[in-house]
Amino acid sequence: TTNGSPEKAAFGATGLQSNDQPIDQTLTTRQGHPLTHNQNVRTVGSRGPTTLENYPFLEKISHFDRERIPERVVHARGAGAHGVFEAYGTVGDEPVSTYTRAKLFQQKGKETPVFVRFSSVIHGGHSPETLRDPRGFAVKFYTEDGNWDLVGNNLKVFFIRDAMKFPDLVHAFKPDPITNRQDGERIFDFISNTPDAMHMITFLFSPWGIPANYRMMQGSGVNTYKWINEAGEGVLVKYHWEPKQGIKNLTQGEAEQIQAKNFNHATQDLYDAIEAGNFPQWELLVQIMSDDDHPELDFDPLDDTKLWPPDKFPWLPVGVMTLNKNPENYFHEVEQVAFGTGVLVDGLDFSDDKMLQGRTFSYSDTQRYRVGTNYLQLPINAPKKHVATNQRDGQMAYLVDTAPGQNRHVNYEPSSMNGLKEAPKKGAEHTPYVGGNLVRQPIDRLNNFGQAGERYRTFEDWERDDLISNLVSTLAPAKKHIQDKMVELFTQCDEEYGRRVREGLQQVATSDAQKKEQAVQQAEELSHEGQPY
Ligand code: HEM
Repeated sequence: TTNGSPEKAAFGATGLQSNDQPIDQTLTTRQGHPLTHNQNVRTVGSRGPTTLENYPFLEKISHFDRERIPERVVHARGAGAHGVFEAYGTVGDEPVSTYTRAKLFQQKGKETPVFVRFSSVIHGGHSPETLRDPRGFAVKFYTEDGNWDLVGNNLKVFFIRDAMKFPDLVHAFKPDPITNRQDGERIFDFISNTPDAMHMITFLFSPWGIPANYRMMQGSGVNTYKWINEAGEGVLVKYHWEPKQGIKNLTQGEAEQIQAKNFNHATQDLYDAIEAGNFPQWELLVQIMSDDDHPELDFDPLDDTKLWPPDKFPWLPVGVMTLNKNPENYFHEVEQVAFGTGVLVDGLDFSDDKMLQGRTFSYSDTQRYRVGTNYLQLPINAPKKHVATNQRDGQMAYLVDTAPGQNRHVNYEPSSMNGLKEAPKKGAEHTPYVGGNLVRQPIDRLNNFGQAGERYRTFEDWERDDLISNLVSTLAPAKKHIQDKMVELFTQCDEEYGRRVREGLQQVATSDAQKKEQAVQQAEELSHEGQPY
């Protein structure tokens, strides 16, 4: 067999049979033995003890003991759906082939099946979906050239620009290793020493940090990729998903009200909309820049903490995605799906964005651990096309990736005995020149505060008010030197921004001092009254 998944395992099959076929509902063991006793373990007399040779029980309980795989270390809480991407064939007014030869974009109306997983980042698999957190927006395109994963977030920028810092960033936001509680002091201890994060923090603590649901949020590839055309020429590209349902974010107060009643509201909203035939849609747009370092800009095009100004680099539509089918099994599809930034098709390429390159190692590495060596053989991850490799065996090997007619003795290449052959070259190779000293250095144009200040000023009043109030309440319990450093960083973004956070923190400090004084007075009065019992 090729990797076209066997019918039983395909996610189209529910195991349900049509009405005119007899349904065999017999419960069996995994070995196919009909199971006659599923209520009682086997015991010596009705009061036990139990016997250890009781295979059906051992099989059942030991499989149960293994029902969970490790959670994703980030983005553990998620919801997913199947759908279709339809290409426009153009990018703005030009044929898309001017910039990329990726087949999925070429003809107007061309459809490619997709699976999407939305997520929140920091907390575990059943954490509330109302938390302030970036939201993941990961799309797997099952193209005729194999899979393409666009692993993005709702927000268009990120906290850091160097992959070396990612584990520290995540540790600072995850619960304290002793108290097991997320802690604003730890977060801002890290952020106050990481000014790269100011743009992202400005988004995250505003209502943009709590999208109302998954349907009404944007998506973005965040990192800078490349498009390659038939001639092998590359351009830099950023991806954006715009929801046709509109964008809606929540204030902290609105989120708390929802959370009090429902901590699965975003999963429910997506599932219910699709069940009701109200299929959510997103348009895919790109921004394009020539492939160089653009010294005329005040930021580096490979810096994921920056937006590319749309007046200079317009958003150009390339297609539309519709989500139209809910998963049939959460674990098989949403939990086991594995996205990675390295999963590109011909016509798409990496840029030198350091974050992107670090990410590209991390995803498949974690998935070999989280899901298993052969995670790409699972139906949700397998391409919906011919797969033929000489990769063999390993835990849970399920298929032999051979081509029809191939000599199955030959699991190596090259061979003159009817083994697999290298594919013919597609278009001209993209061969950018790379040269320089090997260093460990940040990029030159950091400009950590400019766009963060711009963001602060372009927010609407209610968004700014919510931003200040969220920052103040999270920073208030932190040590004074951390608060002071954050106020200094906000002030560098925008003078008013810094002033309002400082004033907010002062107000909290004053009212805390008053409360303390009142408490001392009350305690003194009580002590005059003697013991109350
Ligand atoms: C998930 C690493 C930055 C978006 C993950 C996972 C890892 C990871 C290990 C878990 C994957 C799994 O278990 O299947 C990293 C590293 C980064 C980084 C090392 C920086 C160097 C980013 C950025 C974005 C992002 C900038 C946004 C563009 C996502 C999404 C998921 C994810 C959406 C969830 C995918 C899913 O739904 O299965 N990341 N990440 N990550 N990451 Fe990143």
